[in-house]
Amino acid sequence: QVLRQKQVDSPEIKQVSVRRFATFDLFTRKNIETQDSSETTDDQWVEYRSVYFPEFSALLRDNLGPLQVNEVLNSFDNTGNVVWPSEEVMAHYCLQKRNMFGAVCELGGGMTGFAGLMVAIGADVREVLLSDGNEKSIQVRGLIERNRQDGKFGSTHVSAVVRWDCESDISVLEGHFDVVMCADLFLDQYRACLVDALRRLLQPNGMALVFAPTRGETLRLFCHLAQQTGLYVSQHQEYDPQVMDVHLKMLRQGKDAYDENIHYPLLITLTKGP
Ligand SMILES: C[S@@+](CC[C@H](N)C(=O)[O-])C[C@H]1O[C@@H](n2cnc3c(N)ncnc32)[C@H](O)[C@@H]1O
Repeated sequence: QVLRQKQVDSPEIKQVSVRRFATFDLFTRKNIETQDSSETTDDQWVEYRSVYFPEFSALLRDNLGPLQVNEVLNSFDNTGNVVWPSEEVMAHYCLQKRNMFGAVCELGGGMTGFAGLMVAIGADVREVLLSDGNEKSIQVRGLIERNRQDGKFGSTHVSAVVRWDCESDISVLEGHFDVVMCADLFLDQYRACLVDALRRLLQPNGMALVFAPTRGETLRLFCHLAQQTGLYVSQHQEYDPQVMDVHLKMLRQGKDAYDENIHYPLLITLTKGP
């Protein structure tokens, strides 16, 4: 009993209890009937449509079936399996700013690469690279093909495995992108190589967009490190009226429902010059 009480009081358990907050309600979801009988029942496609820019929607695979234990053990990392709030907010922000893109790369997009996908669909871009370090998330999602079949975008969009800590993955893309973006990627052991990858992938006038909650010290440590490597860092609390609106409403519901420290994504922009 004592042990159980201790566990309930632990910060990890408290975090889990407020993780219930799952969305800023920026996209509606609708299940899509599939006509292809070769697809299994696990292949449920869902249309995510922007509430504020309803002309833009993307197809995501909602239910990828249970993960096999050996896949979890052998694959690189499996935390990016659903659209988390920071990714959702980044997708919405990209639609809002859809005229600012040229060549774009999303790092650590997880199973969906949702924001990168919305850029491919909504923005007038030359090129979009949806990447993640986990080969499985790149292979299974089949997202590019499905959205292309549905006529959502042209042919300049690809998925690839890009590991921030893999020299050859980064060096082939060096200086290539106008925008490099990522959401909620603050695993302590990869902080340094993520900063390095963001810096190296950007072309001299490019800009990196990072959406992530404060999460204790993690965001501050990330910004500090980015500054140390010579990047210009600026942090934005108010970057979108609709997101701010939900944020303020949720704050009024109290910390049990919404904890700004783990739920409200701040926007960090990084550039090579002032
Ligand atoms: C917390 S998830 C975030 C996924 C997605 N951006 C979101 O917010 O929903 C972290 C993602 O980063 C990827 N990742 C972690 N370390 C990486 C590394 N060193 N190189 C490339 N990807 C990495 C993982 O595979 C995972 O998909």
